[in-house]
This record gives sequence, structure tokens and C-alpha cells, in this order.
Amino acid sequence: MKIAILPGDGIGPEITAQAVKVLERLRRDGLALEWAEAPIGGAGVDAQGDPLPASTLQLAREADAILLGAVGAPKYDGLPREKRPEQGLLRIRKALELFANLRPARVYWELAAASALKPERLAGLDLLIVRELTGDIYFGEPKGVRINAAGEREGFDTMVYREGEIRRIAHVAFQAARRRGRRVCSVDKANVLETSRLWREVVSEVGREYPDVELSHMYVDNAAMQLVRDPGQFDVILTGNMFGDILSDEASMLTGSIGMLPSASLDARSKGLYEPIHGSAPDLAGRDIANPLATILSLAMLLRYSLGMETAAARVERAVAEVLMRGVRTADIAAPGVVPVGTAAMGDAVVAAL
Ligand code: IPM
Ligand code: MG
Repeated sequence: MKIAILPGDGIGPEITAQAVKVLERLRRDGLALEWAEAPIGGAGVDAQGDPLPASTLQLAREADAILLGAVGAPKYDGLPREKRPEQGLLRIRKALELFANLRPARVYWELAAASALKPERLAGLDLLIVRELTGDIYFGEPKGVRINAAGEREGFDTMVYREGEIRRIAHVAFQAARRRGRRVCSVDKANVLETSRLWREVVSEVGREYPDVELSHMYVDNAAMQLVRDPGQFDVILTGNMFGDILSDEASMLTGSIGMLPSASLDARSKGLYEPIHGSAPDLAGRDIANPLATILSLAMLLRYSLGMETAAARVERAVAEVLMRGVRTADIAAPGVVPVGTAAMGDAVVAAL
């Protein structure tokens, strides 16, 4: 099995290096794994003048799965849109048709103190955000900045969802719900947006094919509020690209740290790109303080969903749980008074637990 490793920018190289240590250990234990690295994001711009160099896309196409660190750094902020690091990520998602973004949020009880919520609010928190990833206002055309009739600059983006796009992501959500708590909450803004009215209609149609799964609908503003009021009420949250972007960052803080949450972005055949949901954290880069666990947990998802290596996936997840149980903490999840370990030491601790 071939894995493309795309470290990217900021803390990306440091955290993916920890996942590679895990891969080395698994290979020593007999798993048939190989991997190769390629630049993306700002690293792609620096190496080849393109946030998604053709050779990187080629490597990703040939691989069975992709592990990505993060993209983006302030030094690229002034570049035109097509050269911005984020475009590398958006283009690879689009090029490989990775339309299904799975973002689980669960609490490790050892970390409950690091949650933004009181522990008693965390009861039952174990949810999965299924975010559509290749449509919506992220990709809708036209978009741009123009001078309007009054001579004023005006920025515009197009929010658009095709029926087929809604249908295929809805199926992903209902099928995921069958493997979990059998409840889907579809989040939209149907009281205002036409795209959302179609979204709600199509999701309801698909829902009739899954009579064993309970479907509810919620407006996105209410969902943002309910997530901090009573996150335990959710099982699967199904939503579009932009709402999912926002709600998944919010959900991550419920669990203690955004540094703990993995994600998978899958195509129709479960080939996927796996990445921590946090970003490149330029302020932490190169300081050996970032938390590599979201990346290591992303690798576990990769082993499970794209390579079919369930035993190895569960083993990696158990190793992470064990390290947390032993009290090993990076700074983002350390309680006051606890001396944190660095990025590399956390990676080593996971390998030792393996
Ligand atoms: C994410 C990120 C990306 C997104 C950015 C970096 C383009 O925030 O994966 O959530 O908005 O999708
Ligand atoms: Mg985001």
C-alpha cells in the first residue's frame, strides 16, 4: 500500500514526521506500507511556484491514500488567490473528488478539563460531522471583486448546490449513522437560502431510503448554539461545505483541543486524504510544541478507511489513548502545573505505546 505524505506548511512538517514514526513502526511489525513525500501549499509555491505542483498531484493520484499536515503561512498572504497555499488544498480536494469530509469529535475523559465546556455539559459527546467538501460557496462561480455601477468595489461569491452533490453526501451521512447512533441532523439555513431549501428537500428524499435512521433538520445558527448547550444530543451532523467548516472548528473545542481531531476526506471509492482539522499554526511552527495526535489519529483513520487495515488502525488509536492515560501531554492539553512534552517526544511516546 502506498501513502503520499504532504507535510505542507507551518507545523505540518513536524506533525507529519510523528505520523511517519508510527508508519515505520507498523512496517517493522510486518505491514506492507510504503510512502513518499511531496510539497503542497506554501511549500509547493516555494519549491515549484504552485501550491499544488503537478508532480504532487500525480503522486497523490498514484497513492492508495494521502496524509496531509496543514497549509498556509502569513508570508503568502499577499499572493494572488491562485497562488495562495489554501488553493493547493482546495484543488487537491476537487481534483480527486474528495467530496465527503468526516470529522469526528469525541472526548477523551482524561482531557475533559481542557474542554471549553464544564465537564457536566460533555455527557454523551461523541459526534461525527459529515461535511460536503467540493461544492458550495467555496467553489461556486462566478466569484471575484468587481467595480459596480456606482463605481464602488464589490466582492461576490456564488453559493450553489446541485441535487446530485447533496444526494451523494446525504448517503454518506446516513450510512455512517447506521454504524453509529442511527440519527442524522441535517444543518442548513433553509429559512433564508435557496440552496438550503433544496438541500433540505433532497436530504429528506434520501432519508426515506433509510427508515431505520432518524432524520432531523436544524438551522445553522441554532446548531452553533446547541453544540455548546448540549453537544450530547448529536450523533451525525450532515452539512454543507461552509457551515461544516465553521461547526467543525467549534466542535473541536468541546473535546479539549483542536489538536486532537482527525479528519478524512473521501471519494466515492473510499480513497482519501487524511488531515488534522487544525491549521498550520504558524506561531507554533518549528518550536517542537505542537500536538501531533490529530495527525496520528488521522493516520489511524487512513489505515481503517482507505487501506482496510482495521487492526492496525485500532492499535494506533489504543496507543494514543494509552499515552493520554499515562498523563503525557503537549502544551495545548496540559492542565495547569503539568509539564508538557514536545511534538517529537509525544510522537515517541505513541510509538513506545505501540
Ligand atoms: C479546513 C480549513 C480549510 C477549509 C482551509 C485551509 C481552506 O479551514 O479544512 O477546515 O476552509 O476547508
Ligand atoms: Mg476549517
